Order: sequence, then structure tokens, then C-alpha cells
Amino acid sequence: MRIDIMTLFPDTVNAVLHESILGRAAKKGIVTINCVQIRDYTENKQNQVDDYPYGGGWGCVMMAQPLKSCLDAIVAACPEGRRRVIYLSPQGQPYTQETAKRLKRDYDHLVLVCGHYEGVDERFIEECVDEEISLGDFVLTGGEIAAMAIADSVCRLVPGVLSDEQCYTGESHWDGLLEYPQYTRPEVWEGRAVPEVLLNGDHARVERWRFRKQLERTRDKRPDMFQKLSYTDKEDRKLLEEVRKGKDAKKLTEPLSCRPAAAEDLADIRRIVDDARASLKKLGVDQWQGPYPEDRHFLFDIERGECFVILHGAETAAFFTLSTRHEDTYDAITDGKWSEGLEACVLHRAAVAKEYRGSGLSGQLLRFVEQQCRAWGYRCIRTDTHKKNKPMQKLLRENGYRYRGNIKIVCEPGHDTARQAYEKVLKK
Ligand SMILES: C[S@@+](CC[C@H](N)C(=O)[O-])C[C@H]1O[C@@H](n2cnc3c(N)ncnc32)[C@H](O)[C@@H]1O
Repeated sequence: MRIDIMTLFPDTVNAVLHESILGRAAKKGIVTINCVQIRDYTENKQNQVDDYPYGGGWGCVMMAQPLKSCLDAIVAACPEGRRRVIYLSPQGQPYTQETAKRLKRDYDHLVLVCGHYEGVDERFIEECVDEEISLGDFVLTGGEIAAMAIADSVCRLVPGVLSDEQCYTGESHWDGLLEYPQYTRPEVWEGRAVPEVLLNGDHARVERWRFRKQLERTRDKRPDMFQKLSYTDKEDRKLLEEVRKGKDAKKLTEPLSCRPAAAEDLADIRRIVDDARASLKKLGVDQWQGPYPEDRHFLFDIERGECFVILHGAETAAFFTLSTRHEDTYDAITDGKWSEGLEACVLHRAAVAKEYRGSGLSGQLLRFVEQQCRAWGYRCIRTDTHKKNKPMQKLLRENGYRYRGNIKIVCEPGHDTARQAYEKVLKK
């Protein structure tokens, strides 16, 4: 790819485009970026490139002659190839990643014309320009910033400029999505931990998590793009629908905190339990479909300091009960076994308020559970869920819990008491 930039400020443009990745690509000869001084092509003694507009009005207009002579010289030096002459203009079509892809795909020589002052003589545009491109609906002083943006975004698509094709195909706007969140060391910064899924080397899980994050971000930050998404793959379609449904979830804009619950929290806990019960019913899950869990269970947990509420700002958004008591029903595990030699905390009852479903709070809840488990000096968390409670199973798996086998609970007589057992062993 060769790019010639016609400008009154070649040094400025050169300095920027010959730095870093593009500079290295130019040195290797993968791309050629050449800035040409329009003033060198004037035919008057003062090297004047602009003049007053006919009809009066503000400012000056760049004359057609120096622009045409400059363009002729560029074409003469590079007569072959699929060329496109582009005038950077606030009146052009807005520039997008799709435009970058098209320019890279369809041409091997771009000539970018940077206007200045009030713009350029219209007759130059009519005579010589193939296409007008705008950086956006605002006015710049000159076309240089727009030309640099185009040169940069097109060149990085040229094979060999970046180390791998995936460097740009995984990025925002490549396939109508924004990119997933990125993290680097340290693992915990200012109390904020890197999502657990990124730490355990399970590439399939990382891929799925990233795709979900891409969908969620696009939904939240660019609803216009989200609206256009559609997939043919069944799994992708399912996930898109799930994320679409989560759009009404509250956003986690306030700080989250976790504290031991008090009797005064019972009304909030009850409200969250009632919503969870209704939602499980809708899913056809025979869990919490009788009186359990009742106020007495929570009062018992509260008394023992084992029930916690999670606050979003000042609002109660979720709760959980984490216990260090031995769970007898977990002793008779079938079709598998627990990790040996570990004392475990048991996550008994947990739910997120319905307005927070899809907000990412469930994952945060499991983080608070881990924090509490560590604070008590334990490294292992066990829990169980109904075999039809797919959302819970997915959440557990996505957060590093492993299926360990089957158990039977005793607290919901008259209902399906079979449960799948899950366990997470925390890193030291
Ligand atoms: C001050 S502007 C001229 C604007 C022109 N009088 C108009 O209103 O359409 C000077 C030069 O900056 C460049 N420019 C300004 N805004 C731009 C944008 N949004 N995208 C690309 N180039 C822009 C163009 O090359 C233009 O000739």
C-alpha cells in the first residue's frame, strides 16, 4: 500500500506517521507513506497557495492549480496501480472501519488531499477527486488529522504491519461489535480484581466470556450497533437474545459493598427471595417452590453471622449465606466426589434482586463469597443447585466452580430434592 498525503504541513504529518508501528512498517517497506508539500507546486513568485473567495466572505480558498500540479507529480512518480484520490472534507461520507477495509481491499495507492483555510476551489474537486471523506460531523482547521487517521487505520490492515491478523479482526468495529474489556498485571489493582475466568487458562471459556462482554458492551455503549446484530449460529443467537433481555438491568454505577446482614434486612431479603422464587418457577425449576427458605432460616443465619447483604450504593441488591458448619447432606455424594483433605465453606442461599439480573452482579456476589471464605481462613467453597437451574450452573462454571457429583437435600420436602454439587478450590 502506498499513501501520498498532499499537505501544507508535511513535517508534522511525517513525524506522526513515521513513529511506532507504522514507522517500522515503512522502514521494512511494507507500506509507503509519502507527504508532499503543495506549496512546492505553485506557479507564482510568492508561493501563494490560496486566494480570496469569489463573491466575498470570510477567509481564503486553496487554489486549484497548485493542487492539480502536485497531484500530477504524484501520479507521474507512480503511474501504475489501483489509485483513489480522496479529499478530506467535513462534507464527505463519515469514515468508518468499513471504509478502511474497502480502501485497503480495493486500492493500492491512496492520495489524500488535505484542505486548509476555507477549503479548496470546487473545480479541483470536480476535476480530480474520486471521493470525499469526513472524519465526523465537526470542522477541523485542516485535513491533516483526518488524513493521518485514514493512513493509520488503513495501513494497520496491510499484512505484516501488525504481528497477526487477529490483532485487528478481534478489535472494536471489525464485525459490528465493540471489543471486550482488557486487563493486564497486577491481578488486583486498587481492590479491583481481574475477572477470574481470565486467569485459569481455559481458552474456550475465555472465548465465550469475551463474546458475551462484546455483546453487553455494544448493547450498553452503542445501542445503534447492537440493534443491527444478527447471527446464524444457534448458540450465538441464544446468547444475543440473553444479552438483549438483560438490557433493562440496572447498571452497576455505584460502589458495591458487602456486610453481615441484620434483622432489619429481612424485608429486603424476603423481597429478593420472592422474586427469585417466581423466576425459578418460570424456568420450570423445582427449587424454592415451597415455603423454604423462610424468615427463620435467615434469622438463624443472621444470628450466626453467616448471612451477608450486598449493597449497590445504599440499595440492597443481593444476599448470600455462607456457612462454616459441616453440611451433613454433602457427605453422601454420588457419581463423583469432593476434593479430599479440604475444609470447606458452604454457600447455601443466594439471590440477586431481579432489577440487577444481567448486570454482572451475580459474578460480583461470588467474589464477595470468595473474599469471606478467605477471611475465615478457608480455601474451598461448596454449593449445590437444581439440575434444571441452568443459569446458576453456567454462573458457577464461568466462575471456576467444578461439577463434583450429585447430592440430596432435606430442606425442601415434597419437592425434587436432587441437586448437582459444585466446588471451587481457591488459589493460595
Ligand atoms: C476549516 S475546514 C473548511 C470547512 C469548509 N469551509 C466547510 O464548511 O465545509 C478546512 C479543511 O479542513 C479539513 N476538514 C475540516 N473538517 C474536516 C472533517 N470533519 N473531516 C475531514 N476533513 C476536515 C478539510 O480538508 C477542509 O478543507
